[in-house]
Amino acid sequence: MSIIILKLGGSVITKKEKDMLADLKAIKRIAREIKEAFERSPNLKLVLVHGGGSFGHSIAAKYNVHLGLKSGNQILGFTKTVQVMRKLNLIFVEELQNLGLPAIPLQPSAISIQEDSKLSDMFTKTLISALNLGCIPVLWGDAVFDEKQGYSILSGDHIVPFLARKLDSERVIFGTNVDGVFDSDPNTNKNAKLIRLITPSNIEKTLRNVSGSKTTDVTGGMRRKILELLPLVEKGIQVEIINAKKEGYVLHSLLGNKELGTLISAQ
Ligand code: IPE
Repeated sequence: MSIIILKLGGSVITKKEKDMLADLKAIKRIAREIKEAFERSPNLKLVLVHGGGSFGHSIAAKYNVHLGLKSGNQILGFTKTVQVMRKLNLIFVEELQNLGLPAIPLQPSAISIQEDSKLSDMFTKTLISALNLGCIPVLWGDAVFDEKQGYSILSGDHIVPFLARKLDSERVIFGTNVDGVFDSDPNTNKNAKLIRLITPSNIEKTLRNVSGSKTTDVTGGMRRKILELLPLVEKGIQVEIINAKKEGYVLHSLLGNKELGTLISAQ
């Protein structure tokens, strides 16, 4: 069975009202859905990646971690960003383990290296060993060493395509706080329509419309995400964007339902 990579956005597992506030209710629900997916599909091979939300982003912004090393004082900010992400990961992995799921954290900053904010290598032998043992590797967006900048931010969004290629996975799922890709910004346009299927043949038209709308995370962010994922799709990997805030969506997506959000596929 092929490996599924599921990214859970920071906006799904944390609350944005306050710095470093985990959405424990959402985490517990998603953990239960993952547990049920394993019960119903015991051969599932799953890699989890989670985002930073109100944990990583605020501390990284405070110390300008994304800009890399500019002054010595910021090194502390780099290490603090790594630390808060470990805290969020601890909460998430603990909830998975509480349900009997053999989740194992693999700290991206310890196994990855970037060059000018671009992921250039990740040591994946431990991840493959974990999968072979039946574990669920859990990675996350992190502050990582950078050969050009000293350090930089590695988004979970960039871990996913890197691993999909390296692990030869067939499906990657992005669990976000929106229903998928819209033809315009649903926050400002109540007639915005969810695009169910994006293929290489309709991608140009689709992206033209998406870029024509306001640059918010729903549209501008999505546009960038899709463009970055296109090479994966062209290699035959299916990419799905679902709303992980909706009960049951993670479960059914893991069980193979591809009609829950936007599917980006070669056929
Ligand atoms: C961000 O990771 C990690 C840090 C800021 C340290 P992501 O880019 O994957 O996080 P979300 O999903 O946008 O919150």
